[in-house]
Amino acid sequence: MGFDVSPEAYTRYMGRYAEPLAEIFVAFAGVSAGDAVLDVGCGPGALTARLLSTGGKVAAIDPSQTFVDAARERFPDVEVSLGRAEELPYATATFGAALAQLVVHFMADPVAGLAQMARVTRPGGVVAACVWDGPTGALAPFWDAVHTIDPDAQDEALLSGAHQGHLTELFGDAGLREVAEDGIRVDVVHPTFEEWWEPYTFGVGPAGDYVQNLDDDGRSRLESVARERLGDGPFTVPATAWAARGTV
Ligand SMILES: C[S@@+](CC[C@H](N)C(=O)[O-])C[C@H]1O[C@@H](n2cnc3c(N)ncnc32)[C@H](O)[C@@H]1O
Repeated sequence: MGFDVSPEAYTRYMGRYAEPLAEIFVAFAGVSAGDAVLDVGCGPGALTARLLSTGGKVAAIDPSQTFVDAARERFPDVEVSLGRAEELPYATATFGAALAQLVVHFMADPVAGLAQMARVTRPGGVVAACVWDGPTGALAPFWDAVHTIDPDAQDEALLSGAHQGHLTELFGDAGLREVAEDGIRVDVVHPTFEEWWEPYTFGVGPAGDYVQNLDDDGRSRLESVARERLGDGPFTVPATAWAARGTV
């Protein structure tokens, strides 16, 4: 899936939502100041940057080599590893908290990934994750435009955690206790239609894969339908994610 992309492409595509989301997600997770925190599926580092700004000691891990390289360059003092949530290369009870922002829906085995996050967190510590809501997440305007042309196109709404209550279920299956879930939201202003659309052509994630698999006519048609729906800009995309936290 499309995460072997440049950090610049990712940041223009998703960083514009992930950066403001990180501030709200860290507050939701309730990470204590000074905690050692693991950022699972760190990408180029939207959440890592936020965690560092709260004064915590941070380690990060991601399976994309381009993102690991970018995060290592951006945060020279952070230990950034290459790897997947399902096989975390850390000793049991290493961290005070383990967080995954916009990652659970891409895990091959979300329960195993969350269970690993719990294993590397000390007893009493926090595991937290968030995933865009299918119908009202950051990518909803894109998939809504796709569905007016291609009603059967597979969007991201059926992925793990993308509807209310599913993260709670996964956290329970992973053995977490006192699980709490809530919706968290960012409103992102797009100054022009082009600023919103162009990053969808960079091949990032499932939406980027979908656009790259269209021929030139299909891509132009989707662009025109999206422009009709959204206008030339400026416009605001309200993006809701489900966030869950549990105790180890
Ligand atoms: C939408 S990005 C989120 C990146 C970052 N957390 C953020 O908020 O900007 C999804 C990330 O999950 C990573 N990923 C995919 N499968 C994963 C897995 N099994 N374990 C950990 N990370 C994974 C991808 O490489 C990508 O960096």
